Order: sequence, then structure tokens, then C-alpha cells
Amino acid sequence: MNRSKILLVGATLAAGITTPAALADQERFAMTHPTWNEECGSCHVAYPPQLLPAASWEALLGDLGNHFGSDASLDPATAAELLAYARMHASARTAAGEPTLRITRTRWFLHEHDEIGPATWQRPAIGSPANCAACHRGADSGDYSERRIKIPR
Ligand code: HEC
Ligand code: HEC
Repeated sequence: MNRSKILLVGATLAAGITTPAALADQERFAMTHPTWNEECGSCHVAYPPQLLPAASWEALLGDLGNHFGSDASLDPATAAELLAYARMHASARTAAGEPTLRITRTRWFLHEHDEIGPATWQRPAIGSPANCAACHRGADSGDYSERRIKIPR
């Protein structure tokens, strides 16, 4: 192990002691809103609100009638409640320009999944990068940790 690696490990351990929750947040997300889990988890897995910035959730929840070719409309009160929840937990990462509507187009996502090739994404059991639960077996409960990943053949 070279010196810079040792320093890096030291820094990681120190960070782990002071902020274990912040580190764990990268792979496990608390899915605390039953209505979100139900309404936003009926067609695909309910995505963790932590994975998009507030501007993205505003755009998404403001236009549920035109939702990626589907009609995901909710009554205005429920949509407003879900937006408040999403805003409260939204990612602080922002990008210039139009807010992205897709977690799967964020730089973070592309980087985290850069070892997965196009042929893998297209396997019938996966179909789309948006199908998190195909590989993340704990996605329903917000658990994206490495030990719960199994890529279907
Ligand atoms: C009627 C079905 C339906 C419902 C209900 C629904 N969605 Fe979707 N959603 C879709 C479809 C279809 C896609 C596109 C999936 C794909 O590209 O594979 C999608 C994609 C998304 C994406 C982008 C995924 C990516 O590529 O990163 C987000 C974010 C999202 N939905 C959030 C929500 C939220 C929040 C709710 C609840 C308010 C919701 N959805 C409810 C059908 C639905
Ligand atoms: C084809 C399988 C596959 C799909 C589909 C997929 N992932 Fe992943 N995901 C992986 C793999 C493999 C890794 C990398 C694990 C590693 O190297 O630590 C990963 C890493 C992650 C991580 C980081 C976990 C960690 O240990 O730090 C998160 C968070 C994550 N994915 C979220 C998502 C979300 C959200 C979706 C859907 C929008 C998704 N993934 C779709 C396979 C997948």
C-alpha cells in the first residue's frame, strides 16, 4: 500500500467515526412516506427522493399526467404532500440547465454504474436502467448496498 492510499484509508476511517450516517446514506435510504412508497411504487420501484435534486422533483411532480408516456396523475393535495416530502429529502447536488427528470441520467448514476455494459442493461430481466429492483434486491426498502446486488443473467 502506498502512502497516499494509507492516508485515504485513514481519512475514510476517521470520517466513519464522526459521520457513519452520512456514509451509509450513499447506499441505504429511509423510505418513510407510505403514500410515496405506494403511489410511486406501483409501476416501478419507489425511487429514493435522495437521488434527485429538488428542482427535478418539482418538475416531475408538477406534470404527473405526462410521466414518461404514462399517466401517473394524483389529486393535487396528494401531489403537494409528496412534493413536500421529496423536497425535504432531495439531493443537494445540482447541475446547470434544465433539471433532469431521470436518476439514470445523472452523472452520479452513470459513474456508479459505469461497469455495466449496454448488453447487460438490455437483458430481458432488466430492460431498463430505471428497473433498479432487477439488480438491487433490497430496493423496495431503500437498500442499495453492495451485498444486496445480484445482476440477473
Ligand atoms: C402509471 C405508472 C407510473 C406511476 C404511478 C409512476 N411512474 Fe414513474 N415512471 C413510469 C414509467 C413508465 C417510467 C419510465 C421507466 C423507464 O424508462 O424504464 C417512469 C420513470 C420515473 C422516473 C425516472 C427513472 C429514471 O430513469 O431514472 C422517476 C424519477 C419517476 N418515474 C418517479 C415517479 C414518482 C415520484 C412517482 C409517484 C408520484 C411515479 N414515478 C409514479 C411510470 C409510473
Ligand atoms: C443491471 C443491474 C443494476 C441496475 C438495474 C441498477 N443498478 Fe445500481 N448498482 C449496480 C451495480 C453492479 C453497482 C455497483 C456496486 C459497486 O461496485 O459497489 C450499483 C451501485 C449502486 C449504488 C451505490 C451502492 C453502493 O454500494 O455505494 C446505488 C445507490 C445504486 N446503484 C442505485 C441504483 C438505482 C437508484 C437504480 C435504478 C434507478 C439502479 N441502481 C439500477 C447494479 C444495478
